[in-house]
Amino acid sequence: MAGNGIFAEILDGDVFKYYADGEWKKSNSGKSVPIVNPTTRRTHYKVQACSQEEVNKVMEAAKAAQKLWAKTPLWKRAELLHKAAAILKEHKAPIAECLVKEIAKPAKDAVTEVIRSGDLVSYCAEEGVRILGEGKFLVSDSFPGNERTKYCLTSKIPLGVVLAIPPFNYPVNLAVSKIAPALIAGNSLVLKPPTQGAVAALHMVHCFHLAGFPKGLISCVTGKGSEIGDFLTMHPAVNCISFTGGDTGISISKKAGMIPLQMELGGKDACIVLEDADLDLVAANIIKGGFSYSGQRCTAVKVVLVMESVADSLVEKVKAKVVKLTVGPPEESCDITPVVSESSANFIEGLVMDAKQKGATFCQEYRREGNLIWPLLLDNVRPDMRIAWEEPFGPVLPVIRIGSVEEGIHHCNASNFGLQGCVFTKDINKAMLISDAMETGTVQINSAPARGPDHFPFQGFKDSGIGSQGVTNSINMMTKVKSTVINLPSPSYTMG
Ligand code: G3H
Repeated sequence: MAGNGIFAEILDGDVFKYYADGEWKKSNSGKSVPIVNPTTRRTHYKVQACSQEEVNKVMEAAKAAQKLWAKTPLWKRAELLHKAAAILKEHKAPIAECLVKEIAKPAKDAVTEVIRSGDLVSYCAEEGVRILGEGKFLVSDSFPGNERTKYCLTSKIPLGVVLAIPPFNYPVNLAVSKIAPALIAGNSLVLKPPTQGAVAALHMVHCFHLAGFPKGLISCVTGKGSEIGDFLTMHPAVNCISFTGGDTGISISKKAGMIPLQMELGGKDACIVLEDADLDLVAANIIKGGFSYSGQRCTAVKVVLVMESVADSLVEKVKAKVVKLTVGPPEESCDITPVVSESSANFIEGLVMDAKQKGATFCQEYRREGNLIWPLLLDNVRPDMRIAWEEPFGPVLPVIRIGSVEEGIHHCNASNFGLQGCVFTKDINKAMLISDAMETGTVQINSAPARGPDHFPFQGFKDSGIGSQGVTNSINMMTKVKSTVINLPSPSYTMG
């Protein structure tokens, strides 16, 4: 149970504590932030509303702890990460329970998120040992006009304090995807979890606490974005921000100043279906890609662009699968569960009503109860409809019929987003040409978009983000290059 057993010390009455200086604490603000269960629409948990003064203290501790951590041998950093990963996986049940209650993640997917997170932490420890244990050695005589009088040694050193801001849809996995690379690279880490998902994140942080990381190295501050959001992202002690979420990331980028940023801000992933595609495979991937976690994934299939000649057949196949999706509470691991909030459900409904008014074909009747929206496929969507461009982050999927591949590529590239996309065809040559033409960070051939496996590079173009994630890229991004140049009094050549 959440807040019980080994997690009892993170709870004070009915409010979860925040984590600073190696301890679980109550905020001096005396205020808390309610977390509403998307299914019941009632307050389920409460977390501390931390103050700006508390953020200042966390940053001071993070700066001090980082100095010592950078001097901790790499193998020891890796050892602690492996320990945290094991504790996390051992205690997957209460953490998964939080994900079910806070963000209505289907129970089976919630468990998967925690296990995947433990695996990511371990992989990161191993990868860090490999890539941070190596540097470069350069000699000067490769550049015109130079003799071999200078030897340059480069290594990767930590940035300092990394601020991690994960989104509600993966509050554990997208937190550890920032925490683990930051720590293995010798940084300290301040986590600001999303409000919905904060309790799962606090439990995850407790696993790192139990692993024995030094005091102040990891902190987790909860509270209202309006009070501590800008204060955190503009804090002078922060040396790097890794953010996943919506377009708040664009305003963070503008305010953050001269520090490295890693941003992943959503997508409108297109699924281009050619005439020779295996339509059963496409339909299965549209269901998985468009409707898993009720479409609340940045990498969800968010628009299907299908060649007119196979559109009727594909729509029929998808419709047949949509009726089989189970709809209901996350506790029962239903395929479609309530979306995260009432405002999110209202936004989705707005897109649906706009499409209705403009003449889209409804393959199912639109149905909503509270935050629960039944899966909906909209056929014959046209570019003048909002749903053709905006991301619903819900179980509603538009189908646009195209007359040529070029039309599909044009629609994909006209989007402000450029996260992922996919193309279905049996012709690998065509697939490669289309992949090259699509302005997205990743193109999947014959599969739905997805971030994982978590060591793959993951990046968005345009408004979908900056920087590249994935284990290796994140570790590299959270370091800077340091050179030491040995200057010799006279040229020195190997063997002679
Ligand atoms: O929501 C954004 C995530 O990065 C998507 O991850 O492809 O594993 O669902 P996923």
